[in-house]
Amino acid sequence: MSPTTIRFLKVGMAFFILGTLLGTLLAVPFTRDFLYKVPGAQWRLAHTHLNLAGFVIMIIFGIAYHILPRFAGKPLRSEAWAAAHFWIASLSTAGMVVGFIVPAAAILLWAGSVAQLFGIVLGVVNLWLTIR
Ligand code: HEM
Ligand code: HEM
Repeated sequence: MSPTTIRFLKVGMAFFILGTLLGTLLAVPFTRDFLYKVPGAQWRLAHTHLNLAGFVIMIIFGIAYHILPRFAGKPLRSEAWAAAHFWIASLSTAGMVVGFIVPAAAILLWAGSVAQLFGIVLGVVNLWLTIR
């Protein structure tokens, strides 16, 4: 496995731990009541995006970067793009989650969202050009 694939898988698993920890805190009445006292915090959206953008999508890309070049029988179009995508995906997911929780950090939500979209397009184009 390439360092990029390993990073996607490990950071994806770390987001999974955080996402399910937050889900558990939202399920237990005592901690849920405590969390919902924080003004403006959108905990459910933080939970869903830790699990879905942070875990599901990172794991899918990590595995895709490893397996699709092997299915196609040729190297990944660009290891550098994949490496850049890892940092964009990790930082923008973290930024989006903080932005969902802290209303004053709304810039992290919208800037993180734009960056997240850019990373996804970069990843899709890279994989597309690899398998075509
Ligand atoms: C330990 C594991 C998990 C627990 C305890 C948990 C718990 C919860 C709770 C309590 C809510 C409602 C939150 C609220 O509105 O305050 C919720 C919503 C949600 N969770 Fe989880 N969750 C877990 C794992 C996951 C995973 C792995 C995913 C996705 C891969 C996921 C996706 C969602 C989604 C999409 C919603 C929002 C549903 C809606 O919009 O009505 N959860 N979860
Ligand atoms: C560029 C990446 C993404 C951005 C900027 C983004 C942004 C958002 C925003 C702002 C909402 C709240 C919508 C509202 O209630 O007004 C939302 C909801 C949701 N998103 Fe995303 N999202 C992204 C990626 C994803 C991905 C990749 C998934 C799933 C694999 C996903 C699953 C969901 C779900 C299930 C909800 C509803 C959750 C709930 O109501 O609790 N999102 N997203």
